[in-house]
Amino acid sequence: MLSPRSRILGIETSCDECSASVVESEEIDGRLRLRVLSVATFSQEELHAPFGGVVPEIASRNHLETLLPMVEKALADAAISLSDVSAIAVTNRPGLVGALLVGVSGAKALAYAADLPLLPIHHLEGHAASLFLDLPEGSGAIPWPSLLAIVSGGHTNLHVLGEPPEKWGEGILASSLMGSSRDDAAGEAFDKCAKLLGFPYPGGRWIDSEAKKGDASLHPFPRPLAREKTFDFSFSGLKTAVSLHTERLKKEGRFEEERANLAAGIQEAIVDQLLHRIFLLIRERGLQSLGLVGGVAANSRIRERLASECPVPVLFPLLKYCTDNAAMIAAAGAYRFHQGRALTRDSMLSLGASSTA
Ligand code: KG4
Ligand code: ZN
Repeated sequence: MLSPRSRILGIETSCDECSASVVESEEIDGRLRLRVLSVATFSQEELHAPFGGVVPEIASRNHLETLLPMVEKALADAAISLSDVSAIAVTNRPGLVGALLVGVSGAKALAYAADLPLLPIHHLEGHAASLFLDLPEGSGAIPWPSLLAIVSGGHTNLHVLGEPPEKWGEGILASSLMGSSRDDAAGEAFDKCAKLLGFPYPGGRWIDSEAKKGDASLHPFPRPLAREKTFDFSFSGLKTAVSLHTERLKKEGRFEEERANLAAGIQEAIVDQLLHRIFLLIRERGLQSLGLVGGVAANSRIRERLASECPVPVLFPLLKYCTDNAAMIAAAGAYRFHQGRALTRDSMLSLGASSTA
């Protein structure tokens, strides 16, 4: 019989954030309450910024230097030692394979040495579980079935989920996928367009803040697939349209004065497309709630528009858990641990990492 209370050490190294976290979970009436005791994250953003994107080799080398200090800090900040941990959760897919392998090897070594169970976690299941971290008492009981929108730098996925996370089984995200991007992810579109406007990588949050000073109606960029009945997305045309448009404005010497209006126009085109498909799927399937997760869920315009336009209750993760972090991996691990799905000493050593789902 599993104890109703557990402490999960989470590890995330799938891309350019090296993060460790301790999350305490407590079972109350069949639901888990997840409380974050600590999160220690080293962001490699500045290391990759000069290259305009993540350089895989730099990422894995830096994870190698940073992982153990992050684990030590997470344990110290939670005021516990490894022997107080119930299990270790680690992202093992999808992501940059070299970066993932650093986290997986570190987690395996720690779990083996401390004789702890190991929980391999799909990065997107981590984003999904981020919805339920540090919820105030009594909240988070959203009605089901629910639409889960995962909108990040690598994915734009719509999932229909019939049950709360305590019941999510193996492969839940693959079996519930209803729509995804046919080309660039929404976060990738933010980043590529931000680069065209001269903002550093990753540019989503720069567009978010610049757009507050602009008028979106002055640059109406395309909304592809608007007339197609599909739950898929397409964002690659936006980058081309923005590129041609900014070139013209630069030639006319009007680029600088139009930058905020351009940012607002880009943001509105992305948010419009996301909301159009989300609302279509909610109506078609009679869904009862929406959970929006991933880096783009931090966008202030999408939060503002959902608050006023969404026909069903919306749940967002706390802002600090939208972009990559190990607390969300520990959260997904807590659900898995509670279901008794941990790898034991015998089975953990063969665990690998995968760049794909
Ligand atoms: O989930 P995440 O941290 O990493 C992936 O798993 O991809 O998402 C990162 C993405 C980046 O594309 C970043 O530009 C975007 O999230 N992002 C934002 C905002 N904050 C982060 N996009 C729009 N508005 C924001 N405020
Ligand atoms: Zn992510």
